[in-house]
Amino acid sequence: MSKRILLTSLWLLLTVLTATTAIAEDKELGDMIFSSKIDSMKQAGMGEVIFPHTLHEEQNSCSDCHPDIFIEKRNSNDITMQKNMDGNFCGMCHDSINAFALYECMSCHQEP
Ligand code: HEC
Ligand code: HEC
Ligand code: HEC
Repeated sequence: MSKRILLTSLWLLLTVLTATTAIAEDKELGDMIFSSKIDSMKQAGMGEVIFPHTLHEEQNSCSDCHPDIFIEKRNSNDITMQKNMDGNFCGMCHDSINAFALYECMSCHQEP
């Protein structure tokens, strides 16, 4: 192998490695919208829920939520307010001690 081909291969390898890292960093989950129960939410005068996933990653570790509280897959957790009030899902932390309380409806729900 000539020196030039060797250098070209090294450069190609570096480019591929850098691209892979960029993809991994792009995987930010950002804000998630929960609206599967929009009909009953509207009846209660509530709009959809915005769950800031990235912000929760900064304040908690992954294992605080996955897999015990939330299955790590979009739309695979059947969240209701009854379950929240029983201390499951969001209610595990949003109990006015670890995070703001469940009666602060509009901190999670949008205007309907
Ligand atoms: C405060 C709780 C919480 C923390 C902390 C948390 N997650 Fe999540 N995560 C959730 C919820 C809620 C969902 C959405 C589940 C649903 O839609 O039913 C989710 C969804 C996901 C998904 C699925 C995304 C998709 O598109 O299917 C992945 C992957 C994930 N989380 C990874 C992580 C990783 C990695 C960390 C740590 C860096 C983390 N989570 C920290 C609550 C959390
Ligand atoms: C592992 C604990 C934990 C769980 C589970 C959890 N949260 Fe939180 N959340 C926190 C903490 C800690 C804060 C920051 C303290 C505060 O705002 O009271 C927070 C803050 C928030 C905020 C305010 C964000 C801001 O801009 O300040 C929203 C909205 C929120 N959570 C929604 C939710 C929803 C919706 C769920 C369920 C899908 C959920 N959280 C589940 C711990 C949790
Ligand atoms: C910590 C965040 C959070 C707070 C605070 C909160 N909710 Fe929710 N709520 C949710 C999530 C998440 C869902 C599930 C949404 C979905 O999956 O469509 C939900 C669903 C609902 C639903 C539809 C499902 C059901 O249980 O009937 C109603 C109605 C509702 N909320 C009303 C309220 C009211 C009223 C308040 C204030 C007393 C409140 N919520 C406070 C996060 C919250």
